[in-house]
Amino acid sequence: MLSVSIHRLLLLLCALVGMATTELVHVSVLFRHGHRSPVQLLPSQNFTVDNYWKDGLGELTNIGKMNEFNLGQFLRKRYDAFLGSRYNSSAHYVRSTDFDRTLMSAQSCLAGLFPPVGDQRWNSQLPWQPIPVHTVPKAKDYLLEAPDFPCPERERQFKQVNADPARLQFYRPYADFLKRLSAGAGMAVTPASVHKVLDTLWINKVEGLPAPAWLNYSGPDWQRLVTVGSFQWNEYSWTPDLVRFGSGRLLDEILGTMDNISHGRLPDRGARLRLYSDHDTTVASALAALGNTEFVWPDFASAVLFELHSDSGQFSLKFFFSNGTGSQRQLFTLPPPGCPKPGQPCPLASALAGLAPMRLSLPELIKRCR
Ligand SMILES: *[C@@H]1O[C@H](CO)[C@@H](O)[C@H](O)[C@H]1NC(C)=O
Ligand SMILES: *[C@@H]1O[C@H](CO)[C@@H](O)[C@H](O)[C@H]1NC(C)=O
Ligand SMILES: *[C@@H]1O[C@H](CO)[C@@H](O)[C@H](O)[C@H]1NC(C)=O
Ligand SMILES: *[C@@H]1O[C@H](CO)[C@@H](O)[C@H](O)[C@H]1NC(C)=O
Ligand SMILES: *[C@@H]1O[C@H](CO)[C@@H](O)[C@H](O)[C@H]1NC(C)=O
Repeated sequence: MLSVSIHRLLLLLCALVGMATTELVHVSVLFRHGHRSPVQLLPSQNFTVDNYWKDGLGELTNIGKMNEFNLGQFLRKRYDAFLGSRYNSSAHYVRSTDFDRTLMSAQSCLAGLFPPVGDQRWNSQLPWQPIPVHTVPKAKDYLLEAPDFPCPERERQFKQVNADPARLQFYRPYADFLKRLSAGAGMAVTPASVHKVLDTLWINKVEGLPAPAWLNYSGPDWQRLVTVGSFQWNEYSWTPDLVRFGSGRLLDEILGTMDNISHGRLPDRGARLRLYSDHDTTVASALAALGNTEFVWPDFASAVLFELHSDSGQFSLKFFFSNGTGSQRQLFTLPPPGCPKPGQPCPLASALAGLAPMRLSLPELIKRCR
């Protein structure tokens, strides 16, 4: 009796001072790998695998390791009490695509998130502990590798998007710019390949390499490259169906897990925290699925946070996007379809109803990609 009224009193006090009484129940985090070497070199530039990118192309750089380590520290700060200081193989689960850069990113993030404490400290010289990162072969990774496994229907839709008159219209004013860019880069740069040039130069810029003589990073042509390159890349989330192909499987998994948890069906692994180490394509697609209309090319180590909260058994979801590096990291609230205004928790049932059209079950995905 007494404890019930104390509980009521606490609730009332919390309401009076405007404090949230909700308790965090589960967090899933989808993030992009950290800074990497370019995937493609520009013929006119002399930074090669032999003289500069010595770990090869598309590989995580030291900057990238630090990006992810900082992300891990950010998650530690945000979820410290909820996660507990010990790594727990039943509460915490990590999955990555089968790429060196995402596997290494997951490990770098975990180094920042779960430095060993107490009895988990196994080597006094090394404030690090091994934590499993699970993966499956690329061609079978229906969960995270959505853009890369073979799917003729998706390819067909991409062709359609690239022939979309609205998109062709967008590129028209940039014809002269693309000619200049082709001459500078030493390759034919078309609307279909301009993002690769942006990607490579963006990386060179972050790495502190000198700007090429043909492109001034402070001038209007750099702005043009960012605008056109980002726009081209946005083909991944141009239609709701492509968004579904890009992140619908993962969304289905995350929401399904949360729905199960709300019914007391805890997964064997990752009941509290699930980390998904993935690529820009999936992160951007998830952002689009969660109702983000302002297009972004998600930067290295940017993350989408899915939080399940409970207020005395009333479950609700919160969604966030986080980007920026080190102490510059920012957090934005996402307002997904079917949910009230940003900042307010979204009742689980509303979120599930609003996001149902964006989900793709495994059987459905396999059927559609046959
Ligand atoms: C690339 O070429 C420039 C200009 O010729 C030269 O200054 C620079 O040292 C070269 N860089 C590498 C990594 O070879
Ligand atoms: C590990 O996590 C599980 C599931 O959340 C929990 O039941 C268990 O008590 C935790 N173990 C420790 C040692 O904290
Ligand atoms: C680059 O552009 C900025 C702004 O237009 C200008 O101030 C600067 O001198 C340019 N740098 C070079 C190397 O041309
Ligand atoms: C939710 O629980 C059901 C019933 O136990 C199970 O079949 C399903 O795979 C679970 N969903 C997820 C995403 O784990
Ligand atoms: C972070 O995301 C916000 C919101 O989409 C965007 O406006 C901003 O430019 C991004 N910042 C970085 C460093 O990518």
